[in-house]
Amino acid sequence: MPKNNDLMDKIVSLSKRRGFIFQSSEIYGGLSSSYDYGPLGVELKNNIKKAWWKTMVQDRDNIVGLDAAIIMSPKVWEASGHLTAGFADPLRECKKCHHRFRTDNLEGDKCPDCGGELTEERQFNLMMKTNLGVVEDEASVAYLRAETCQGIYCNFKNVLDSMHMKLPFGIAQIGKSFRNEITPGNFTFRTREFEQMEMQYFISPDDSKKYFDEWKNMRMKWYEDLGVSKDGLKFEKHGKDDLAHYAKAAEDVIYKFPFGWSELEGIHDRGDWDLSNHQKHSRQKLEYFDQENNRRFVPHVIETSGGVDRATLMFIADAYTEDEAPDADGKLQTRTVLKFDKRLAPIKVAVLPLSKKEELSKVAREVYDGLKDEFMTWYDETQAIGKRYRRQDEVGTPYCVTVDFESLEDKSVTVRDRDTMKQERIRMDELKDYLIKKLA
Ligand code: GAP
Repeated sequence: MPKNNDLMDKIVSLSKRRGFIFQSSEIYGGLSSSYDYGPLGVELKNNIKKAWWKTMVQDRDNIVGLDAAIIMSPKVWEASGHLTAGFADPLRECKKCHHRFRTDNLEGDKCPDCGGELTEERQFNLMMKTNLGVVEDEASVAYLRAETCQGIYCNFKNVLDSMHMKLPFGIAQIGKSFRNEITPGNFTFRTREFEQMEMQYFISPDDSKKYFDEWKNMRMKWYEDLGVSKDGLKFEKHGKDDLAHYAKAAEDVIYKFPFGWSELEGIHDRGDWDLSNHQKHSRQKLEYFDQENNRRFVPHVIETSGGVDRATLMFIADAYTEDEAPDADGKLQTRTVLKFDKRLAPIKVAVLPLSKKEELSKVAREVYDGLKDEFMTWYDETQAIGKRYRRQDEVGTPYCVTVDFESLEDKSVTVRDRDTMKQERIRMDELKDYLIKKLA
């Protein structure tokens, strides 16, 4: 396997070459730290979100979904503490070139870029500002949300009342968030526009410890069940000094990225910070009535908060494998394989006629048409079959189906497994059921 720096370069290069991730606005020289997901990237990302939604919403009987607006009332961010120093980085600005630096990244008192004099430390808020409507004044200022969960808190009452939920219950949401990050970087790891998968679990105040531990374990299990290497995952606890402004306790699931152990997802005990603050600022009751014990209270919250882009980068890095396999002439060649869990693979099946001859293409097209309503299927008849196998390995396609001249006689095809490279002959009329079982 390549060394860590090389590995990151290889991931970035493969992502572009094979249609996973492109630089945003590339034809204009690119916008730094902004990325677009290509045809295979969007499939992978959708599959990750689907797997999360299945575990967090579909498989549960006490968690429901939500899709709230990105732009909310600015009052939300006053109540949540994001417009105050709670959501800011301490920065110093160069008086000459006006570049800003995080104070914890600075060595010495001079600008690292031009040697100019630096200002005193100032708090720089991370919320992204915009204006609503045609007049750009203080009254029209709004913000792009910095975390999706505030939409959940603001809809707590709506969901409680419309869905008749009983504590404990959760609300889950996937969506974009925005932060004016000072130090974006490491490809898609830290960007200013990103997607989050967040779930807020509303509980009685006495149950915090129990559900914090439960969710920690369930979230770790989710990554492990999707095949992430166990020695690449661990927890990291936040000390008192590095807790976010809303958190009473926090632990991160961290992953051994090629650039070092870094946060994938946070599990937070937010206490009643959010609901109580929204209750105060909105003057609306955000309480729960516990009929059994005849008491009314503001629920506490355990939050699970993961990044879709970080998860996508992690799944690519974890799946990246190089092994050696013989080519058509029997010579050993390096083979790059993305060993994605089958549920995450962007393409599930590739149909490859052995040659472009019309009689083969015709049958192969029929095979392809018979599969594509069931799976994300790809059809490829260009170049030698060995090259086509490698191409599919490189994007993590679990099964390649080859239609050869014998297929015309025996009505069977060859199915090749990505990981073992073993080949099996399967009757065409049994192929779909065979693949359904294999990909289940
Ligand atoms: N609602 C709580 C919250 O937002 P956070 O730890 O600030 O907590 C949660 O963010 C997750 O969102 C992170 O673990 C990470 O996966 C993702 N995330 C946060 N900032 C990000 C950024 N600038 N770029 C990409 N992902 C980010």
